[in-house]
Amino acid sequence: MLSTNDGSSVLSAYQIDCIVGARPNLMKIAPILRAFTANDRVKARLIHTGQHYDDSMSGIFFEELGIRPPDINLDVGSGTNTEQTARIMLALEPVLASSRPDMLLVVGDVNSTLAASLVASKLLIPVVHVEAGLRSNDRTMPEEINRLVVDRVSDLLLTTDQAANEQLIREGVDGDQVHFVGNVMIDTLLANVKHCRPVLETIAKYSSGAFKDVCERKGYGIVTLHRPSNVDEPAQLKGLVEALVDISERLPLIFAMHPRTRARIEQGELDGQLSAAQILVTPPLGYIEMIGLMKGARLAITDSGGVQEETTALGVPCLTVRDNTERPVTVAEGTNTLVGSSPNTLRDAAFSALSNPGKRGRIPDLWDGQSAERVTDHVIAYLDHNRS
Ligand code: UD1
Repeated sequence: MLSTNDGSSVLSAYQIDCIVGARPNLMKIAPILRAFTANDRVKARLIHTGQHYDDSMSGIFFEELGIRPPDINLDVGSGTNTEQTARIMLALEPVLASSRPDMLLVVGDVNSTLAASLVASKLLIPVVHVEAGLRSNDRTMPEEINRLVVDRVSDLLLTTDQAANEQLIREGVDGDQVHFVGNVMIDTLLANVKHCRPVLETIAKYSSGAFKDVCERKGYGIVTLHRPSNVDEPAQLKGLVEALVDISERLPLIFAMHPRTRARIEQGELDGQLSAAQILVTPPLGYIEMIGLMKGARLAITDSGGVQEETTALGVPCLTVRDNTERPVTVAEGTNTLVGSSPNTLRDAAFSALSNPGKRGRIPDLWDGQSAERVTDHVIAYLDHNRS
């Protein structure tokens, strides 16, 4: 409690440390930081773990989404899942131990989310997890282990859909800790979709005139693939590349390639097959280019979590190249279809999506652009309630 000059008391602002590390964290943190900044009950500090460090995987999103520079960068860089997690924990512990924020906020399911929530909970600093309760039930995904552990150690769990609330309750979490707030990633989408980069401008930037002409005539599909289960196993990656080559004979494809995927494609000498087909391979794209391409696409082919949600919000049919999804609401209500990991089923599903009207779906509840304000309200209410 602080006093003003006239002697009346005012509430001091809560100190919240916000963690980002990998690309998908940045679209989630942008609206939360904006809502925190607009609220004088909260003073936020931004800590970047450095899990993603390239300009194309991190820097450009700060610029495009108006995220202020991090207050602290831990610069941990690449490594195995364990190496990354351990390095983040070692670097973050002294930072949190000396400053002892009122709360630590983590988003999503990446290694940075896991590492930071473990450090804070061991220091008895309350943790809020935004995007809690998602489960693929597939523990071969590093993200699934991260989700389970982060939710176990979090004190306040904020969810993107009602099914996630029900999941957490089934796992024994106290219902008072869980609140459905909607989807902060869609806050960012709705705030930026009006000024996304025109499709033809982006295509012209990365390709020859001939590819642009064919996209103007036939439309195009957008592809992102980077999950270890799809790209780390050479036979699986080869099969998927062959399926994409076949699909591109009917629909030109733009493949925004993650660094992990590029390395595996080059190791497998598959780049020649892609470049001989009607497939434009680009580096990882910035947000306003990616959203522009997604909005104009006839079809998306992906294994990303974020793209499943963004295509649902944009009404673009999406084929997810996985056997499961932690985001079932995009299948039940949105435009997403799980096609499994077999290249043959991907090929069949794409041909079928191109010859039938694609899945249209509806926008899930509370994916309305206001989720970050609800996050802020719940964080303040939690801290007020637990004030000692
Ligand atoms: C991570 C997340 C995943 C998320 C994805 C989005 C985990 C377990 N996984 O996976 O949930 O969907 O980010 O991109 O946290 N690399 C670069 N530059 C960078 C970052 C990475 O070249 O800025 C390369 C490195 O060689 C690295 C590889 O990409 O080995 C993979 O990066 P990593 O952070 O290990 O995992 P992602 O596959 O990106």
